[in-house]
Amino acid sequence: MDKGKKRSKKIEEEIKKTWDKHGKVGYEHFVKMKVMKGYMAALGKMLLPCPGGTVFDGGCGVGHNFKQILEKTKAKKLIGGDYSEEMLKKARKLLEKMDSSFKDRIELVEVDLTKRFPFKDNMFDAVVYSISLNYLPYYQWKDTLEETFRTLKPEGFMYFVGQTREFDFSKGYKKEVFREMKEKLLKGDIPFIIWLFRVKGVVAKINEFSKKGIIIYPTINELKECLKELGFVNIEVIAQHNAKEHKGAGTAIRAQKPRIS
Ligand SMILES: C[S@@+](CC[C@H](N)C(=O)[O-])C[C@H]1O[C@@H](n2cnc3c(N)ncnc32)[C@H](O)[C@@H]1O
Repeated sequence: MDKGKKRSKKIEEEIKKTWDKHGKVGYEHFVKMKVMKGYMAALGKMLLPCPGGTVFDGGCGVGHNFKQILEKTKAKKLIGGDYSEEMLKKARKLLEKMDSSFKDRIELVEVDLTKRFPFKDNMFDAVVYSISLNYLPYYQWKDTLEETFRTLKPEGFMYFVGQTREFDFSKGYKKEVFREMKEKLLKGDIPFIIWLFRVKGVVAKINEFSKKGIIIYPTINELKECLKELGFVNIEVIAQHNAKEHKGAGTAIRAQKPRIS
């Protein structure tokens, strides 16, 4: 596969700082947007139960998917991993507010998805990537999927929901922002409006990495091909973006590690 531009440590550091800033200025507001609700719904639609199992939420951000992952999978344990300390700080805050029936099952870990995972082989019943995998620069999502395969148990599932090259949300972002602004003004959600202005620079920075060809979303076919090459089976595209409405589902793909025969 074309690995694209030559990797630059400096740029990777810059990307990490951008995620930290996203966390710091208030990523918890981002998850209130309709587009995010669309991603959440697409994820919810494809999660299968693995009662008593262990799930990894890779690039968990502030943890807004934790509750639904635990509810839908009925897992005993959820490991939320992210490399942004600022995102993890907010995730910790969220845990404090959670009911102990959820919080006691969640562990937060600092993990860089582009490096070897600090987990044993065949450890997870499910690995979830909600709008994280597609942001990995220099096509590194391929290495991440390799690690996913290694750490999944046979018959375990990989779930991806996010942007693919077929659906670039940055193109519809401005329109969506105006719609959200109107809606939240009517509701009197002033912190959200303030955040919309504060987050502008962060969003612009991420878009800049895309325009420069550093962050290139995979296409649906690239993802499917890569999963197949790695040995995944039952690769299913569960949802695709509906171009007419920014419901935000982007693409949702589920794939399974085969049973050892
Ligand atoms: C758009 S946010 C998504 C957060 C969350 N999964 C959600 O659905 O809201 C992308 C997340 O991926 C994390 N991320 C990006 N690159 C990463 C990497 N190399 N290792 C670990 N986390 C990463 C960012 O810090 C950020 O929290």
